[in-house]
Amino acid sequence: MKILITGGTGYIGSHTCVELLNENHEIIIVDNLYNSKKTVIEKIQNITNKKVKFYEADVSDKNRLENIFEENDIEAVIHFAGLKAVGESVKMPLTYYRNNIDSTLTLLEVMSEHNCKNLVFSSSATVYGEQEEPVYVESMKRKEPSNPYGKTKAMIEQILEDLSISDPEWKITLLRYFNPIGAHKSGEIGEDPNGIPNNLMPYILKVAIQELPELTIFGKDYDTKDGTCIRDYIHVVDLAKGHIKALEHLTKATPGTYIYNLGSGQGISVQEIVTTFEKVNNIKIDYKFGPRREGDLPGFYSDASKAYKELGWKVEETLETMCKDSYNYIKNQKQ
Ligand code: NAD
Ligand code: UFG
Repeated sequence: MKILITGGTGYIGSHTCVELLNENHEIIIVDNLYNSKKTVIEKIQNITNKKVKFYEADVSDKNRLENIFEENDIEAVIHFAGLKAVGESVKMPLTYYRNNIDSTLTLLEVMSEHNCKNLVFSSSATVYGEQEEPVYVESMKRKEPSNPYGKTKAMIEQILEDLSISDPEWKITLLRYFNPIGAHKSGEIGEDPNGIPNNLMPYILKVAIQELPELTIFGKDYDTKDGTCIRDYIHVVDLAKGHIKALEHLTKATPGTYIYNLGSGQGISVQEIVTTFEKVNNIKIDYKFGPRREGDLPGFYSDASKAYKELGWKVEETLETMCKDSYNYIKNQKQ
């Protein structure tokens, strides 16, 4: 299949491109390189020994996007492009609403005009908001996320559901990711954000390579097994493979909107992540406990059984390999 990947040089997009190429799909990447580097294209090509077509463009640029659709016979789109930093979105809500909503609307208009109506969208567990139960199931109603970033995801889900009702030719899959960590085994691609990381694993990695002195664990007084927050961490390669399964399903499915959690189904505490990272990499991570981070939920994880039943997908990696592959990637970058 010929697939357009928006945000394809980013963290999750690049890993998905590798898996798509391994399955002999033809891919076209569009990315404005706001949060990624052009060298990722070379790395994807090196890992897979296959060619990638790349456009450096903003998905909100309708003329550019129209040209891309005219030049290529695109059959489906995986839409990763978006801004994703929770804290930044609180400080710059207009930038987040403008970028995430505008780019999606432009993409949908151009797809419609070119009669390309197969879409997989990168959604997030954040659209569940705070539920009564810690195990999040697709049948639960969305609750309002606590920050503008999360709200853009919930709004886009709503837009896509409305679109699918208005035009029954659309086939749309909403993939709700839990917490992706890890990196490709080659050590070539992974996540290495600029500046001081907000997310747990990138922060641990900066401490591991001595670019930051110590990790602060936000809160040790939660009502959880060890007092630290619980999340559902998923290896980015497992997550990438979920997109292949979702695409395969979409091509055979009847039109409509489909929603799947992509998570491991397991709740892991911050303390467990740190301990496992130290053990498998034989390294000491200096850390201290600090106050709770505003907006953090104590604990939630996925019910991943729907993706297993309907897509035939489940995670293959473990917490150990997530920690190992993350460290392998960062060491490889510093060589
Ligand atoms: P990322 O920042 O590494 O990748 C996103 C890519 O989109 C970047 O390369 C960026 O340059 C590009 N981009 C942003 N706006 C664009 C625009 N208007 N036009 C063209 N390119 C644009 O992020 P990621 O972690 O790979 O996340 C991919 C998607 O998954 C995002 O939509 C994100 O919100 C969603 N998601 C991520 C997580 C996570 O924890 N990483 C969790 C849930 C959902
Ligand atoms: N944490 C620390 N210290 C740090 C960073 C994080 O203790 O320096 C803790 C957090 O308090 C939280 C856990 O590690 O308990 C995970 O935090 P992350 O920031 O890595 O991830 P979040 O669960 O907060 O957020 C992630 C994505 C969002 C997405 C959200 C909902 O970053 O995009 O999951 O699924 F919206």
